[in-house]
Amino acid sequence: MITLGIESSCDDTSLAIVQDGVKILGNIISSQIEVHRRFGGVVPEVASRKHLEAINPLLEELFKTSGVSIADVDNIAVTAGPGLLGALLVGLSTAKAISWTLGIPLIPVNHLEAHLSAAFLALEQPPSYPFIGMIVSGGHSNLLICRGVRDYQNLGRTVDDAPGELFDKIARYLNIGYPGGPAIQKVGETGYSLRYVLPRPMAKKGYGFSFSGLKTAVLKIVQASDGNLNIPDLCASLQLAVADTITGKLEAAVDEFKIKKIVIAGGVAANSVLRATVKTMTDAKGVQVLIPPVSLCTDNAAMVAANGFFARKLYPSDNLDINSQAVWHIGSELPRDSIS
Ligand code: KG4
Ligand code: ZN
Repeated sequence: MITLGIESSCDDTSLAIVQDGVKILGNIISSQIEVHRRFGGVVPEVASRKHLEAINPLLEELFKTSGVSIADVDNIAVTAGPGLLGALLVGLSTAKAISWTLGIPLIPVNHLEAHLSAAFLALEQPPSYPFIGMIVSGGHSNLLICRGVRDYQNLGRTVDDAPGELFDKIARYLNIGYPGGPAIQKVGETGYSLRYVLPRPMAKKGYGFSFSGLKTAVLKIVQASDGNLNIPDLCASLQLAVADTITGKLEAAVDEFKIKKIVIAGGVAANSVLRATVKTMTDAKGVQVLIPPVSLCTDNAAMVAANGFFARKLYPSDNLDINSQAVWHIGSELPRDSIS
């Protein structure tokens, strides 16, 4: 079965063709990073316009390069939320047009669930349920027990900033590059991670996260440094603080729920310090950890197609009245209200 995936929730326009939810036949991404770099962050109105410009040429390119014809597509999976409303609408309108024209089902996909579905792609052994899921991205940090397709138990999420947001804000403050996560990783490569003492927020306090205190702690170090700041050491120390915090929560979940399988996904899962720190813990505990390859951690449409494929039976074939939603909590139904 061939699924066309469409992703436009933030600053990447991406289209993919995935076979049977696991095999990528095409996955192309048009990134807007260069456009937003000069603003130091994503400008929603600009993002929507750029999606509009990109999506039709990208569709042509996808069908040219994947060897799949549009007539071969069996269903369409599209990110319906959460995300920037105007940006989401571009992908959803395109998906509705194709669905209506070809008479094929349209499956709304939750962007966060899609991140977890990246683990079903390109890994030698896809995960089996149940597993502990950790989504760490620019807008979210969610810790969940995943028991099946669209069957999640939310353990905790951030009460303020997401980890990617923290990296993006600190990188902007230090003026070391955009987007912040990869910039901090690069600068931190030569740094000493025990140089600066940073908190591990909400450690041993349930499964919630709070990353804004870490931001304040970093700012205090910069302000007190009196021109004596070692930026690589600070970046290394910050990454370790984030990695320790996330790893600590994962370890607690493994101990409490006795589930020895973890999937980590989302843009921040590309972080090498996080990957290494988690691996040390999981190796010691005999826990299996699955993290998609770096190229599938950040936003892409293949993960959307994979998720849509597995969820396809939950939706009616005639689904053209759905709306995109800026807020759509993972594990809940897509809100049906229209945009007001
Ligand atoms: O999942 P994603 O592509 O988009 C959202 O859904 O938010 O995640 C983007 C976030 C950005 O905050 C970016 O700085 C962060 O992921 N990120 C990283 C790395 N690569 C991307 N953070 C840490 N280390 C990285 N290597
Ligand atoms: Zn994302």
